[in-house]
Amino acid sequence: MRKPLIAGNFKMFKTVHETVSYIGELRQLARDISAVDIVVAPTMTAVHAAAEAAGDSAIGIAGQNVHWEREGAFTGEVSAPMLREAGARFVIIGHSERRTLFGETNDSVNKKTHAALTAGLVPIVCIGETLAQRDANETLAVLDRQIKEGLDGCTGEQLSGMVLAYEPVWAIGTGRNATPAQAGEAHAHIRQRLKQWFGLDPSEQCRVLYGGSVKPDNIGKLIGHQDVDGALVGGASLDPGSFLAIIRGATK
Ligand code: 13P
Repeated sequence: MRKPLIAGNFKMFKTVHETVSYIGELRQLARDISAVDIVVAPTMTAVHAAAEAAGDSAIGIAGQNVHWEREGAFTGEVSAPMLREAGARFVIIGHSERRTLFGETNDSVNKKTHAALTAGLVPIVCIGETLAQRDANETLAVLDRQIKEGLDGCTGEQLSGMVLAYEPVWAIGTGRNATPAQAGEAHAHIRQRLKQWFGLDPSEQCRVLYGGSVKPDNIGKLIGHQDVDGALVGGASLDPGSFLAIIRGATK
């Protein structure tokens, strides 16, 4: 049985000060919650302070991006060991905004995933189709390529501890979320491919989150699908109250 996971992706919102006060509030609000894992991904400058503020609570901190090299002349980049040292335990990789705005590819996702695993970070690998791809009936083929190329070389054991996030690009920040049936179909397909390519046990342990306009009032239906193991939440994670409502709504 997979434990649900709700992750908040702050994107480029909240200062260090705002993040620390948010984590303090969330710690209080979520102190009785043990049935759902909670992750917060603040901006890079706030990762260390967020991890300190989370302390020994159950809130895990994630980076939103990582470089695949340990160190080097890569101006503006941060490595996996650096993120780990700053207190992150997770890292989001290949978010659609990084793919579309910053040229990330399945190949860079693959290198980043291996770097994260080597550093002891849990990768949250994002996949998902654009509206044009959905309209052209390419959704499942796109997901197949993103999984196959993005996770190339990963072992079943590594997959078991990993997190995938299915985020249809057309549902991100648009208020238009996939219907539970659309999400369910994609998630069932992803689970089937993981089983085929990594084996039964790893495919049953890897958590697959849904992302795209998740709100307190739609998490219940989404999490109702057996292959949806939680959510990657953007806008609605920025307020601790609505994030908490989503966390509470994610209990299976
Ligand atoms: P929204 O929840 O704002 O649609 O963002 C989803 C997302 O991109 C999470 O990574």
